Amino acid sequence: MTYSRITGTGGYLPDKILTNHDLEKIVDTSDQWIRERTGISKRHIAVDGQNTVDLAEGAARRALEAAGRDAQDIDLIIVATTTPDRVFPSTACLLQKRLDRHGCAAFDIQAVCTGFVYALSVADKFIKTGAAKCALVVGAETLSRVLDWTDRGTCVLFGDGAGAVIVEASDEPGILSTHLHADGAYESLLMVSGGISQGYDSLKDGNGYVTMKGNEVFKVAVNTLGRIVDETLEANNMQKSDIDWLIPHQANIRIIQATAKKLKMSMDHVVVTVDEHGNTSGASVPLALDVAVRDGRIKRGETLLMEAFGGGFTWGSILLKF
Ligand code: UT7
Repeated sequence: MTYSRITGTGGYLPDKILTNHDLEKIVDTSDQWIRERTGISKRHIAVDGQNTVDLAEGAARRALEAAGRDAQDIDLIIVATTTPDRVFPSTACLLQKRLDRHGCAAFDIQAVCTGFVYALSVADKFIKTGAAKCALVVGAETLSRVLDWTDRGTCVLFGDGAGAVIVEASDEPGILSTHLHADGAYESLLMVSGGISQGYDSLKDGNGYVTMKGNEVFKVAVNTLGRIVDETLEANNMQKSDIDWLIPHQANIRIIQATAKKLKMSMDHVVVTVDEHGNTSGASVPLALDVAVRDGRIKRGETLLMEAFGGGFTWGSILLKF
């Protein structure tokens, strides 16, 4: 049987840091409120001229190096992003050009905060069917560009960054199962209401920025992530105690704690980066994975559960042997 195995991880964060104290000068908020309600203390923000593909390239190069691969070895590029550089070409094509890799398939996936989980799941299908052997999967975002910096309910939550993995065909177990879901009925709870097909004017008057009914999103996220944990374990005939590491989407420490509680898992086995990165949307899961791989917490052979929830709503999980 052919599995998809992660052979390298990489992450990239812009140098510029915005602390909660910096935000106190911009909107009516406090370091204490942000820490207590979200767990966030700072986030990285892309500077002018630094775009999603720049972050994606940084993460991709580090993942290639970690996997011991050259860009020419890649036969599939998928970028999960909600904040592409251009209407077209896709950010994946822009990244492909940067990497000087010509000819292989390259496309973007848009599933907001669940984007990386969707993208890795798609790459897994390509590899399992023999359509690809070595895929580069990236989650990259400049969410700061779609934030209303006068809205304290959203601007304190997000940050910019990118995470990447190289996934290769292997006889040894890697990705065990992937679970993807969406329900567009919830579109109005978390969105950017303007968009290209409505005409450029639709992006004016604040309609090009994130709006969120945070409290309602919070409740659905906690319930939904609890359900997907059960679904994933059942599909693999596994117990909660079989999971070595939870790598959750980093939206809010309270949501992460609720999922860990559902898994009866000590927070020592949950990778948390929300304090340092904020919510980097589609980049948050691969960034968290990269942090815990590089600092030596996650080791080869361990069982990892990734999960994410975001606008759409979309949600998903991946169970894998690292
Ligand atoms: O990644 C995609 C998925 N997104 C999420 O999962 C986000 C889910 N939602 C959340 O994480 C939380 O709902 C938030 C962090 C966004 C908000 O926390 P909350 O505990 O749900 O607060 P709330 O929205 O119920 O607001 C409580 C109070 C309100 O004041 P009043 O009406 O009680 O006087 C808000 O106006 O907190 C106020 N508030 C703030 N105060 C200081 C909202 N934002 C801020 C702020 N600073 N930044």
